[in-house]
Amino acid sequence: MSSPAPDSSPLLAVHRLSKRFPGVQALKEVDFDVRPGEVHVLLGENGAGKSTLVKILTGAQQRDEGEILWHGQPVEIPDPHTAQKLGISVIYQEFNLVPYMTVAENIFLGREPGQRGVLDRAAMQQRARAILDELGVAVKTTARVADLGVAEQQMTEIAKALSLDAELIIMDEPTATLTDHEIAQLFQAIHRLRRRGVAIVYISHRLNEVAQVGDRVTVLRDGRRVATLEAQEASVETLIRLMVGHDLREQYPKQAVALGEEVLRVEGLNRIGVLHDISFSLRRGEILGIAGLVGAGRTELARAIFGADPIDSGRISIHGRPVAIASPLQAIEHGIGLLPEDRKAQGLLLMQSVANNITLAALPRLFGGMRPLSPRMEAEVARRYINELRIRTPSETRLVRFLSGGNQQKVVIAKWLCSQSDVLIFDEPTRGIDVGAKVEVYNLMTELVRRGAAVMMISSDLPEVLGMSDRILVMRKGRIVGELSRAEATQERILGLAFGEVAVGA
Ligand SMILES: Nc1ncnc2c1ncn2[C@@H]1O[C@H](COP(=O)(O)OP(=O)(O)OP(=O)(O)O)[C@@H](O)[C@H]1O
Ligand SMILES: [Mg+2]
Repeated sequence: MSSPAPDSSPLLAVHRLSKRFPGVQALKEVDFDVRPGEVHVLLGENGAGKSTLVKILTGAQQRDEGEILWHGQPVEIPDPHTAQKLGISVIYQEFNLVPYMTVAENIFLGREPGQRGVLDRAAMQQRARAILDELGVAVKTTARVADLGVAEQQMTEIAKALSLDAELIIMDEPTATLTDHEIAQLFQAIHRLRRRGVAIVYISHRLNEVAQVGDRVTVLRDGRRVATLEAQEASVETLIRLMVGHDLREQYPKQAVALGEEVLRVEGLNRIGVLHDISFSLRRGEILGIAGLVGAGRTELARAIFGADPIDSGRISIHGRPVAIASPLQAIEHGIGLLPEDRKAQGLLLMQSVANNITLAALPRLFGGMRPLSPRMEAEVARRYINELRIRTPSETRLVRFLSGGNQQKVVIAKWLCSQSDVLIFDEPTRGIDVGAKVEVYNLMTELVRRGAAVMMISSDLPEVLGMSDRILVMRKGRIVGELSRAEATQERILGLAFGEVAVGA
């Protein structure tokens, strides 16, 4: 951010912090500190130890070794309640709000203002309003949380942290599911917090955010701190090198692949109120980018093709033959795979091993769904993807729930890469995964189309859409509003179509 952070003694400091899990050194002698009014960005590849550090600071997990200093004094943080009392709050991606309660009720949950057990509603609304105003947030204090968008829920969480007099707010990947506009709002709120002297630890995989929002940045690799730099002095290239350990030669390794025959044709697809008259086709060897704003109907289109949502009319053909797809299982049998946007909820069996998860979708196609894969083969297949995608796990038998967030995502990606589908629909394939792994995903995507598959790639990351697509469809309000070839596509043209500022087909 613009002005330099005040040069004062740290609010929080950790010295030689270490944490081991079975088979994994999650943190190794990490030094880290945060000053009052500072935004300190924490970067690192998937599994580098970021969330583990956060969990230790918020009492969700205990360190093995090292020291935590708060206002210069050694402290123990045995549980989340102690962290809260000290003034440390955390905002996770899965919010801890009660959906059917109002914004104000959530902010003051368990600490409602009032006397002798009588709730003072007016006082509660007033205080909630004051905090939200301070954050520059217009959301109504009487709105039910269930009716809010993700960004507004996040603001409610931040307001809650402030109402607890948090001096340090930790945000673990806060922008992963926000639109650009919402991210701008969040940055505004962060700016206000910082001016008030609140310190912020900010975790993100979006490297351009470091300079936008950070004062300093610390990079973790393999559980060790490799560097702490002034955010303004850290170029994206430097950060990548520190995170990955080497330079990335190319961020979008696009290769020319000859297009083959048509594999998928969608004609006049309708889902009342959601999708309107969608028609397009997809050829072997092709990567078709699907761009559009959040809410344009892209995920809904993917779900309709995959049989996860019913359609009201329209026709889907595979290899020229019309097919009826009434369920995801039928879609898989027809050779269609979907990497869903919400991978944790929809893509994974958390209580099963990495290997089980990877080979799961391949079973119905490769092995008739009957013959179980021999454990040896399953392990072999799984290990190949663990290597290729650099999934950080001590072995293929580890339960998926013990993997870091980004590594869980890689498992879902591996699952569909391994499924040998003819048509793969990837919904936000690289969200939440680190820069090095992104390149691996692009390479594997390229490998898939070289082998004759076709890929539909839904993405809000425009450089990624431009870098990897052969052709781009732009959606708006449930319709396809434009098609651009790789040669004619630019960021401006895509955005123009997505916002509806350009005539259809221009
Ligand atoms: N409860 C646990 N049991 C076993 N291993 C764990 C546990 N929590 C984390 N780990 C392991 O510790 C390492 C660090 O994980 P952590 O969640 O801190 O990574 P991260 O930097 O937050 O990654 P991401 O960017 O993917 O969120 C990983 O290898 C992970 O698998
Ligand atoms: Mg994490």
